[in-house]
Amino acid sequence: MSGFRNMRRPGGVDLVGAGPGDPGLLTLDAAAALEQADVILHDRLIPEAILALASPTAERLYVGKARANHSVRQEALNELLTQRAREGHYVVRLKGGDPLVFGRGGEEAAALAAAGIPVRIIPGITAAGGCAAYAGIPLTHRDHAYRCQFVTAHRRAEETGLDWDALVGPHQTLVVYMGLHTLAEVCGEMVAAGTAATTPAALVEHGTRPQQRVVTGTLDDLPQRARALALESPCLLIVGDVVEARTPPAGIPAEEAHGAGD
Ligand SMILES: C[S@@+](CC[C@H](N)C(=O)[O-])C[C@H]1O[C@@H](n2cnc3c(N)ncnc32)[C@H](O)[C@@H]1O
Repeated sequence: MSGFRNMRRPGGVDLVGAGPGDPGLLTLDAAAALEQADVILHDRLIPEAILALASPTAERLYVGKARANHSVRQEALNELLTQRAREGHYVVRLKGGDPLVFGRGGEEAAALAAAGIPVRIIPGITAAGGCAAYAGIPLTHRDHAYRCQFVTAHRRAEETGLDWDALVGPHQTLVVYMGLHTLAEVCGEMVAAGTAATTPAALVEHGTRPQQRVVTGTLDDLPQRARALALESPCLLIVGDVVEARTPPAGIPAEEAHGAGD
């Protein structure tokens, strides 16, 4: 065992945040949990460099949910977590970013607790924090934004659209998770709700990873720029004047696409 603190708790489950991709962004407790786990159930977005921290004897199960490809349904996943814990294993449920930010961590924790399984939550750096830092975009800024909100563009079919009037406007930043596939729609809805089409916006693709790309533009032209560059998931949308206050960090290996098309 390394110098990490002892996380092992046979019969229990830890919901562990893996951060947005760069292994350097793991917390010490997340790394220790990975190293000590008997069973690891992980999402699609977890890089191999992070999974490599696991013991070679650990059982590793991929339970990722690619868009429209729910390889393991949530109920079956909860059942699997419960079963492995009841067998006496120390189980780590490894999730991208932070388990409690658009990650169903709350649902999993509640299901485990209801089944009598002791559960802990180990936070991770959420995509907004990681992507903003590695793209050099401040989420708040005394000159540009005193409020920052996180929303998801992906909601249950029966839910109505977001109340864009309340979400975008002067002196605020909006971070949209899972917004790539509906980017044109989302940007169009913001403009229809009264936001200036010239509002600065950025997309961070594969944030914090070696292949990170950052595309900047406005609500008006960002969808077309994203299409031209064939951006793919995972991608995070940041909207607001803070995008113009960007200072690209030195030394971050990122293939940049500043205002592509200029
Ligand atoms: C299901 S949500 C999970 C969010 C995660 N729990 C978190 O706290 O970051 C997945 C979405 O997070 C965003 N995301 C996660 N990792 C990302 C990354 N490395 N770069 C850009 N966006 C990312 C994307 O919008 C993606 O569609």
